[in-house]
Amino acid sequence: MTWAYGSCMRSEPVVSLVVMGVSGSGKTTVATEVARRLGWEFTEGDDHHPAANVEKMRAGIPLDDEDRWPWLRELAAWIGRHEEEGRSCVLTCSALKRSYRDLLRDGHPSVWFAHVSGSQELIAERVQKRQGHYMPPSLVPSQFATLEPLDDDEPGRVVPAMGSPEQAVDELLADLARDRGVTLP
Ligand SMILES: Nc1ncnc2c1ncn2[C@@H]1O[C@H](COP(=O)(O)OP(=O)(O)O)[C@@H](O)[C@H]1O
Ligand SMILES: [Mg+2]
Repeated sequence: MTWAYGSCMRSEPVVSLVVMGVSGSGKTTVATEVARRLGWEFTEGDDHHPAANVEKMRAGIPLDDEDRWPWLRELAAWIGRHEEEGRSCVLTCSALKRSYRDLLRDGHPSVWFAHVSGSQELIAERVQKRQGHYMPPSLVPSQFATLEPLDDDEPGRVVPAMGSPEQAVDELLADLARDRGVTLP
């Protein structure tokens, strides 16, 4: 049967999963678990900042959009390389504004967003407890003020920040399988 032959030949879709959300929402936690379960390559978006941005952040100076464009273009290029090579991947990037997400998605149909979302109270508490991270708790309100949630025409879903990371990843992967045809282990 032709259709059976066709389905046997069908290769796994390529997905670039961008785990987004305010600092402290659980992006690294969720993305690490996805990478572990699916065996996808993972990168921390923050590790791709140009040296000038790292210096600014170390000095406690907030980044502006002009600082962010080269960084976002670097992440888009990282996505593009994986897409061209046909390798699914997962990365963390706060991607708080629609314009940042549009840049990541431009020319990259593999991109799918998972927005880790919780109340400001919950996130503030987590950031307060977290050790060894450059983001001070005082910056939580500005993160929420900047956040533009996913619009209906953006591919992806909201992942609850409350509850266990395992449950959040279960829900996220079920949607990814439905939306993009990813085969789950
Ligand atoms: N679902 C969760 N339940 C409880 N604690 C969590 C959960 N997700 C993350 N955390 C904790 O919250 C803090 C922030 O998580 P992290 O993944 O580093 O966030 P982000 O990468 O978005 O800044 C960490 O200390 C982490 O262990
Ligand atoms: Mg992180």
